[in-house]
Amino acid sequence: MTLKSAATAVRENAHAPYSNFKVGAAIRGASGTVYAGCNVENVAYPEGTCAEAGAIAAMVAAGETKLVEVFVIADSPMPVTPCGGCRQKLSEFGANNVTVTMATTGGAEEVTTIGNLLPGAFDADHIKET
Ligand code: THU
Repeated sequence: MTLKSAATAVRENAHAPYSNFKVGAAIRGASGTVYAGCNVENVAYPEGTCAEAGAIAAMVAAGETKLVEVFVIADSPMPVTPCGGCRQKLSEFGANNVTVTMATTGGAEEVTTIGNLLPGAFDADHIKET
């Protein structure tokens, strides 16, 4: 399955009654398996979760901790970039050179990398003892 088809399909299941902005994300684990997630909003707004977070949770629940490719899609005028929190979450499991494709349902696509999205990431080296 392609990341695009997985992200497009899971987006239909997004629970977004407050923003009416459905997002689908798909990631490929190092094993090759594709994991998908959608945004899940909550009436207590800050409790909502992003599509990327759902896809990452599915990957980790399946026993994988390395992602090698990311795809995000939404019905927006321009490709949607992962929010700040999701950039940090992607950085936890993906190397700087992992490609992130951001797409619109209208067919636009932009490709970047986790490193470009989160330069100077806070990572495990920072919490080592001196
Ligand atoms: N959202 C995502 O799921 N991923 C993104 O990359 C950007 C934003 C969601 C969060 C919220 O449910 C809705 O889009 C509007 O911000």
